[in-house]
Amino acid sequence: MKGYFLSAAAWLVVGTVGGFIGAVELVAPDLLGNIPWLVFGRIRQVHTNVNMFGFVGTGLLGAAHYLVPALLQTSLYSERLGKLTLWLWNLALVAGVITLSLGQTQSREYAELIWPIDIGVLLALALIFYNLVETLKRRTENLLYVSVWYVFGAIIFTFLTYFFGNAVWNPSTGSITGIPDAILAWFYGHNILGFFFTPLAVASAYYIIPIVTRAPLYSHTLSLIGFWSILLLYSHIGTHHLIQAPAPTWLKVVAITGSVVMIVPVMTVLVNLWLTMKDRLGFIHSDIGGKFVFAGTVWYLLTCIQGPLQSLPYIQKLTHFTNWVIGHAHMGVFGFSGMIAFGAIYFILPRVTGRPIYSVWLADLQYWLLLIGMTGFFTVLTTAGLIQGNGWLNGEAHYRILPQIHLYMVLRAALGILIIGGAVIGVYNIGMSIYGNRVRSSE
Ligand code: HEM
Ligand code: HEM
Repeated sequence: MKGYFLSAAAWLVVGTVGGFIGAVELVAPDLLGNIPWLVFGRIRQVHTNVNMFGFVGTGLLGAAHYLVPALLQTSLYSERLGKLTLWLWNLALVAGVITLSLGQTQSREYAELIWPIDIGVLLALALIFYNLVETLKRRTENLLYVSVWYVFGAIIFTFLTYFFGNAVWNPSTGSITGIPDAILAWFYGHNILGFFFTPLAVASAYYIIPIVTRAPLYSHTLSLIGFWSILLLYSHIGTHHLIQAPAPTWLKVVAITGSVVMIVPVMTVLVNLWLTMKDRLGFIHSDIGGKFVFAGTVWYLLTCIQGPLQSLPYIQKLTHFTNWVIGHAHMGVFGFSGMIAFGAIYFILPRVTGRPIYSVWLADLQYWLLLIGMTGFFTVLTTAGLIQGNGWLNGEAHYRILPQIHLYMVLRAALGILIIGGAVIGVYNIGMSIYGNRVRSSE
């Protein structure tokens, strides 16, 4: 667990620095010259892959390794296998950063990693599954709490999504051809969000909130309705990324309808968690892990109000291809699942090290830096997106709109500094909590 948490925090530093370089290039394209491994097309892929798989993925997988044994009242089947898997996972990510920087990419969003690395990722997922299933077999608790369902669902479906989405039977391209490939690519791009980050984040929230608030979960029935309804709906709505593309109309209709109905699985989770913490917000605010998780649930709500709306063709006419979508992406991946990943790290770490985290004050500072950074990102990118969308709808040429959003691009880069600050504090605090020999403050 400790290794997963430290790796996640370290990857966030790498990922946000990459994002910052990309943001600077969108403000001043010639500033950094033409250093090949830093050009926007490459650094963007490094940024997204590192932040998504390196930071959020690693953090939440670490949490899963803790909460599954804890909920099943047994110990992890093999600590050694867990460590080996982490090495493999990290190695795949390092190889990913190097190859993407060298321009070796399969050019499909979030599936850019080349074939040998895909195999490494799949192997790591298979080993994690094996370790957790063996743990499950040795359980002393019969009841499978909803977090266990979510973790197993996430790992099985991520493996399948990754395998098919990367077309691993076609090693040279990692793709099929034509419009079916666009549909496959967004089946993948969409499901990696909904079957990897979302269920793992929800699993952590379901575990942490009742403990922090010292209250039983409001409803187990509701929690299982949420689990099965997300499985039923999420898998086939990826075509909402292709509303402006020549994909079959029936598939778009299925995707749009499913996107709107997504409000059901989302609200069952949120209502359930929020009713659990009703009148108990004081407990949340006095626990740094709980605080991060709570903020994550609020971002989840906002992401999932925006999501169904922007799947409607009428709205997407304005928002598609603009910074509006980039704002949504950060809100979902960073605001929702990233904040919950940090919440899980701060909640679980003291329980595995046996002592408080190094500095609650620093963690609190980090919380505010990330929260202000994220809120700023959302405001700035959404506004820039509306300016772009309106301009294009009015027939403005692309080059006339760029100066209009320049200020927003500057603000985004500036806000990035806050987020990098938060990331650096995080890795220091987590590192000191694991390896330091004293506690600075624990309130
Ligand atoms: C009710 C749930 C949601 C719905 C209906 C939804 C809908 C959408 C739609 C329609 C788009 C495409 C917009 C466009 O290209 O014009 C999109 C993009 C995106 N969404 Fe969501 N979303 C939801 C929740 C989430 C969550 C929870 C996350 C993160 C965990 C997320 C992450 C993203 C990302 C990263 C993109 C950008 C993809 C790209 O690169 O184009 N979404 N979403
Ligand atoms: C220093 C903080 C950050 C900065 C400056 C930053 C900047 C950027 C930039 C410039 C892009 C490309 C936008 C474009 O193509 O127009 C981007 C995309 C993206 N970033 Fe970040 N980012 C930061 C933090 C994060 C974090 C913490 C996460 C997730 C945990 C994240 C996830 C993403 C995702 C998923 C995309 C793809 C969006 C899409 O295609 O719709 N970023 N970011």
